[in-house]
Amino acid sequence: MATPSEYAADLATVRAAAARIAGHVHRTPVVTCSTLDLASGRALFFKCENFQKVGAFKFRGACNAVMQLDAATARHGVVTHSSGNHAQALALAARMRGIPAHVVMPRTSSAVKRRAVKDYGARVVECEPTLPARETTARAVLEETGGVLIPSYDHPDVIAGQGTAALELLEDAGPLDAIVAPVGGGGLLSGVCVAARGLCPTVRVFGAEPAGDDDAARSKAGGRLVLQTDPRTVADGLLTSLGALTWPIIRDRVERILGVDEEEIVRAMRLTWERAKLLIEPSSAVAIAAVLCREFRELEGIRRVGIVLSGGNVDLPCDPATVAARSHGAGSERIPSTTRYSRGVCQIARSCSKIKIWSSTPPTTWRTPRCRSTRSSLGPTPVTRLRIRSRRRQSRRRLGFRVGGARP
Ligand SMILES: Cc1ncc(COP(=O)(O)O)c(C=O)c1O
Repeated sequence: MATPSEYAADLATVRAAAARIAGHVHRTPVVTCSTLDLASGRALFFKCENFQKVGAFKFRGACNAVMQLDAATARHGVVTHSSGNHAQALALAARMRGIPAHVVMPRTSSAVKRRAVKDYGARVVECEPTLPARETTARAVLEETGGVLIPSYDHPDVIAGQGTAALELLEDAGPLDAIVAPVGGGGLLSGVCVAARGLCPTVRVFGAEPAGDDDAARSKAGGRLVLQTDPRTVADGLLTSLGALTWPIIRDRVERILGVDEEEIVRAMRLTWERAKLLIEPSSAVAIAAVLCREFRELEGIRRVGIVLSGGNVDLPCDPATVAARSHGAGSERIPSTTRYSRGVCQIARSCSKIKIWSSTPPTTWRTPRCRSTRSSLGPTPVTRLRIRSRRRQSRRRLGFRVGGARP
């Protein structure tokens, strides 16, 4: 086992990082959810890094690394290769410092992500979607610009920056028996571990990873670093292998890596969206799935658990217009904009092409068969009521219901 001073980060560097990035990062809230408490059998405290700038904890590490550079080095800018949250985090941190950022991104990365990085003012350099291509291209950019490489996890300043999330979590939640964080390259988990155990040596720290991407669990089981070659998971932030700096901390200071399957990840994400009303991405849901899994629930002596919700960058499965249309019933392509309730819906829908907004004098001309709240507030006339009923019947037939009968 290495001595604490041989690790890439410790409580002192995390505290220095916290002072350096204060005022640049959001102090994200710690929230609770009684449904998830019940499901896990424990008191859970969620550190909401999905509300962090750029939507993920990555901004802490990137910001610390960028703000730490001396002026002469910073002048040439920063370089990284990433297709995910680190790319945006570094771009924003560089813009805040007023220096150039060059981000190597695989040509297959989504247009939305590339646009976000460009919007933060970074230059995007495209490459083939392989790790060697990313590394070669990043080296070429470094030579061309004289910039400095800021990797996404295996870097002392990045690890220390990520650890600041744990300082805040412990300050806001009070004493915890355990902390669970997702693990990909290990920057978050190792930073959280050195910070939390530095502050409170008895706190137990767990990593959470998908079973289809279990290099951290295999590394811990075998006592040597195993690289991930063929990750298969929806948690796209966790595809990377542990690094030379993160591995020793995880090897020596993290109690266990909890593995969860894809179904558990999706179920945890749905539960969190629906019951905690927190929009998290699959990589964050891995930590929630881990506290709900049997292996963790069977551990004794754990009552209060902190969970790092690492990010919330997810492409939503449907747009607000679809949600609005659904809540008004099928076939309600037209929404009256005359009532208090429908005004809200119309505001959402106005920006969307699928729904036509029209304003008229209800109740005789309105065309939305199942808009209950609108109907009751308007008090339809008997004639309108008949029209509504007939339209509702048509709409139900279209949906495959037997009108007047039970669901097929
Ligand atoms: C949302 C999210 N959670 C967790 C991770 C894993 O972080 P690390 O690579 O530091 O383990 C990432 C990495 O990109 C991420 O984007």
